[in-house]
Amino acid sequence: MKSASAASAPGGDGAFDTVLVVDFGAQYAQLIARRVREAGVYSEIVPPSIGADEIARRAPSGLIFSGGPASVHVDGAPSIDPGVYDLGLPILGICYGAQLIAQQNGGTVGRTDRGEYGRTSMSLLAAGDGTSGGCLLGGLPSEQTVWMSHFDAIVEAPNDALVLAATSDAPVAAFEDRRRGLYGVQFHPEVVHTPHGQHVIQQFIHEGCGLVGDWNMSSVIDSAVELIRTQVGDANAICGLSGGVDSAVAAALVHRAIGDQLTCVFVDTGLMRLDEGTQVIETFGRHMGIRLISVDAGERFFAALVGVTEPEAKRKAIGELFIRVFEDAKAELDDAAFLVQGTLYPDVIESGNEHAATIKSHHNVGGLPDDIDFALVEPLRSLFKDEVRRLGSELGLPDEIVLRQPFPGPGLAVRIIGEVTPEKVATLQHADHIVREELRRAGLEGEIWQSFAVLADIRSVGVMGDERTYGHPIIIRAVTSEDAMTADWARIPYDVLETMSSRVINEVPGINRVAYDITSKPPGTIEWE
Ligand code: XMP
Repeated sequence: MKSASAASAPGGDGAFDTVLVVDFGAQYAQLIARRVREAGVYSEIVPPSIGADEIARRAPSGLIFSGGPASVHVDGAPSIDPGVYDLGLPILGICYGAQLIAQQNGGTVGRTDRGEYGRTSMSLLAAGDGTSGGCLLGGLPSEQTVWMSHFDAIVEAPNDALVLAATSDAPVAAFEDRRRGLYGVQFHPEVVHTPHGQHVIQQFIHEGCGLVGDWNMSSVIDSAVELIRTQVGDANAICGLSGGVDSAVAAALVHRAIGDQLTCVFVDTGLMRLDEGTQVIETFGRHMGIRLISVDAGERFFAALVGVTEPEAKRKAIGELFIRVFEDAKAELDDAAFLVQGTLYPDVIESGNEHAATIKSHHNVGGLPDDIDFALVEPLRSLFKDEVRRLGSELGLPDEIVLRQPFPGPGLAVRIIGEVTPEKVATLQHADHIVREELRRAGLEGEIWQSFAVLADIRSVGVMGDERTYGHPIIIRAVTSEDAMTADWARIPYDVLETMSSRVINEVPGINRVAYDITSKPPGTIEWE
């Protein structure tokens, strides 16, 4: 019995008014979805290949076409089923999305002499009745800064549309046809460099789509509780606790729905951070009031990882073993039919689907074996991390749990490059502990999304005392991020890095060099594997 359904994920089920974001390949599609949610409306990302019928079936309240790197003039540029314009839905196009709306509705898109990139000054144009700005830009200053990133530009707005604004290189910087519900902006309202951008998105949502914006964490809880009860019925469920915030919030939410039908299982994989097992059990026991059992599976995990070096193979081996451990524990767990997982929306996107490349098989999504003896309950599947944190607080979880740094399901295994052994885990635990301790001492923990050590399987020559050393390096990784979809390397002060480096080299046997990872995401990922 395998069900990877999103049956219990509030949002994806049509319980809320939804705006779908059609992703034309922009790095900003996630950001658009987040901005819509910030305006109090549930939003999901869909590929351009979605047909008008499928959109109609999903019954959204509006559509947003994202920007994208292509030119509408090249063969094979992503397009959308023109049938969407007959659905009577309000549509906002952003950059490429606006150009596509223009091209498909009687407007024209031309090549300007030079593109516009970065901050640009935009002027509102007066309408025939003396007003300016229309629905999208009404009430905004007549001159304002917007963020542009385009080469092609709309030269003629779609039939009957009103041109609302222009810049020196974009004669149609914004347009709208309220009768048909078509809206377009050449600039990017979703980025912070467009100061009035959120106003534009809100205008589209509230005025264009007529939505009040009542999607918030308390409505998500009510809806999720109902969905979980329907899905699970009288059966029992188990939830694997990893020590991260996602599984803790998922457990609390499911517990609210089905109470004692839920048992949490902490699997000690041997791949946790120093003392983490004890801490999780202690914190969880103190705050959550849910039945918890602990399974010591370290030996099984190390055995499964012998000789495994390829990152995806590692993730799959770990994902599979988690399930086997849960299945073995089933007898003790009143024959639970359901497995609760703290899968998040970014995990779903990054694990790939028919439209997106697999970047990593997150152990709780793509890392699952095909034959599993549980149906899945994934109540956070449609949420971003910061939304999960807010949900956790709303459920009454303390900051100690809700503000914890994320920790990957496969644990330290994805921070040990090459084969994973108990000795390497012990080395990494020690170094990782120092890195996080020094960051905390420097008072920087709150500013950092994740900070940890990575153990590389290369060796280099050094000198300690008068002796030659030939040891492994530790790489320090610390990033800032809003939701893990993108991240920047953290500008940790040199003196803090120096303390970390000298402590790691002096205190951790076998380590003779420390490097700091200055790669953002993209092009890197946060974890090394
Ligand atoms: P990456 O390395 O993909 O990580 O940039 C993004 C965020 O996800 C966490 N991560 C995981 N979380 N299961 C999880 O529950 C996994 O398999 C997994 N892999 C990465 C990572 O720590 C970061 O916060």
